[in-house]
Amino acid sequence: MVQTQTARSRVKDMLGRRLHDLRISVIDRCNLRCTYCMPAEDFHEHYEFLPDRDRLTFEEITRITRLFVRLGVSKLRVTGGEPLLRKNLPVLIAMLQEIEGLEDLALTTNGLLLAQQARALKDAGLRRVTVSLDTLDDAVFGRMNGRHVGTGAVLAGIQKAAEVGLVPIKINVVVQRGVNDDTVVVLAEHFKGKGHIVRFIEYMDVGTCNGWRYEHVVPSKDILARLREKHALIPLEENYHGEVAERYAYADGGGEIGFITSVTEPFCSTCTRARISPDGKLYTCLFADAGTDLRDPLRSGATDEELLDLIRNVWAARKDRYSELRAEASYAGNGRKKIEMYQIGG
Ligand code: GTP
Ligand code: 5AD
Ligand code: SF4
Ligand code: SF4
Repeated sequence: MVQTQTARSRVKDMLGRRLHDLRISVIDRCNLRCTYCMPAEDFHEHYEFLPDRDRLTFEEITRITRLFVRLGVSKLRVTGGEPLLRKNLPVLIAMLQEIEGLEDLALTTNGLLLAQQARALKDAGLRRVTVSLDTLDDAVFGRMNGRHVGTGAVLAGIQKAAEVGLVPIKINVVVQRGVNDDTVVVLAEHFKGKGHIVRFIEYMDVGTCNGWRYEHVVPSKDILARLREKHALIPLEENYHGEVAERYAYADGGGEIGFITSVTEPFCSTCTRARISPDGKLYTCLFADAGTDLRDPLRSGATDEELLDLIRNVWAARKDRYSELRAEASYAGNGRKKIEMYQIGG
């Protein structure tokens, strides 16, 4: 126990940032084709996603998580692709929730399969869900998700998640200029007073396939200004060190909203997040060009101590601060190789 505590407090990267959050992508597939993540032209029916044998097993994911907890992680998020496409996900959740030292266990989903699975996930020990929903306008949503799927199933999923107690529910809204920005006030108002937390995310240049340009970004301060034309909003303190969302409360008691300003006000200096891809690579930044393989050592008999050393060394060498660099006028790194969002899940 004493040893664990020592290890937990010690791991800092080159910029003095602790390891605090782990995000595990359990599958690279998705039942949507959001234009900013997995454009349908590229990810067609013949696209080869990872075969089952290349994905970490539930036992491997649980072992890795336990090791990360020994190094200081207390928040875990399960992501995808779309994590609800991974077979028997509640079984994994039940295994993860048993890990001592984990204080938070959340899931990011597009919500399409949530109504069917919410009860089983809750019973397995999942604490809460974050649902991606970019607009309530069915036509706009259909275009953005690349599959012309309407919002009905997602809204049903949110309602079911609330009923079974997977709360607080956060709703992630990626805002793109000229695409959904004129629908965001309606979306915020729809969820106002319902206990859910809408967060507007600045559209980012993650991955290599979305043709991102700065002109497509709507700065969070512009959305805040639009909301303030109709609602009084009070800034809130951060919930925990390194929280990505800037939070506000409706003055009339209508609840909370948030802004994720990764482009206009990067938050790399407090970034405590590690990410694992479905095939077991460890990434230390959402914009990393390469990861460190943990699956081979796992499958070739590495001991816990060996794996801990490997992870500790990766974290200790970490210097990532992509979003801060992007914000510097001289930065010219946009065309470089980057991990795709559907492989590490946001
Ligand atoms: P909780 O506080 O645990 O509820 O989650 P969170 O606020 O970290 O939010 P979530 O995981 O839902 O992240 C929301 C979005 O913020 C992601 O989908 C990304 O678009 C963006 N984001 C999250 N973490 C990072 C990060 O480390 N770097 C950058 N650039 N963006 C991030
Ligand atoms: N910029 C910002 N957020 C993104 N997401 C996916 N791609 C991008 C992008 N290019 C968000 C999704 C989801 C989470 C997994 O990441 O909307 O909420
Ligand atoms: Fe699927 Fe999420 Fe990517 Fe959309 S953003 S294609 S829902 S993984
Ligand atoms: Fe962390 Fe990289 Fe995002 Fe900066 S750009 S906040 S280092 S994940």
